[in-house]
Amino acid sequence: MGKNLTLIGFMGTGKTSVGYICAELLGWAFIDCDAQIEAAHQCTITEIFRAHGEAYFRQLETQHLAAVLESSEQVISTGGGIVTAEQSRSLLLKSKASGNKVLWLKAHPEVIYERVRSSQDRPLLKVADPRAEIARLLEQRQQWYELLADAVVDTSTLNLQQAAEAVLKIIGQW
Ligand code: S3P
Repeated sequence: MGKNLTLIGFMGTGKTSVGYICAELLGWAFIDCDAQIEAAHQCTITEIFRAHGEAYFRQLETQHLAAVLESSEQVISTGGGIVTAEQSRSLLLKSKASGNKVLWLKAHPEVIYERVRSSQDRPLLKVADPRAEIARLLEQRQQWYELLADAVVDTSTLNLQQAAEAVLKIIGQW
């Protein structure tokens, strides 16, 4: 396991876009776990959920995270629900002992809703009341984001560049 920056946080908090900018600025590799899982399985996350269910997807996430954490100098954008899997949480906790920093991106629920409402690839939010589902999932996951995070950046009022700068400022202090 190596020195990495792993971004955790709910859907729509900017993990992928902010992570990409941070990686560019740091000169590190950028790893988008969801995109890599889709590429490896040649189907979308929505299709994986539909064909095999959420529990199966969580196993894929854990396996993928374990492999990614073997390398160093990467900004790793994880899927928002990765923290729900005990094995993924313990991998992240273990990785911190060898220099991985875990940064939690958060945002106000209404901001999250506005950012994800037109998304086609968030199967968990394809429900009658996505606002209520966002609130329910946030409530459930908050404890795990808090448990894992070394630091937190609230992206609610930040553009991508500002959010990346806020992240890098924290990294500079580590
Ligand atoms: C999920 C978040 C998604 C993706 C999948 C499940 C979740 O990733 O992994 O749709 O459970 O919150 P993003 O956080 O990148 O949207």
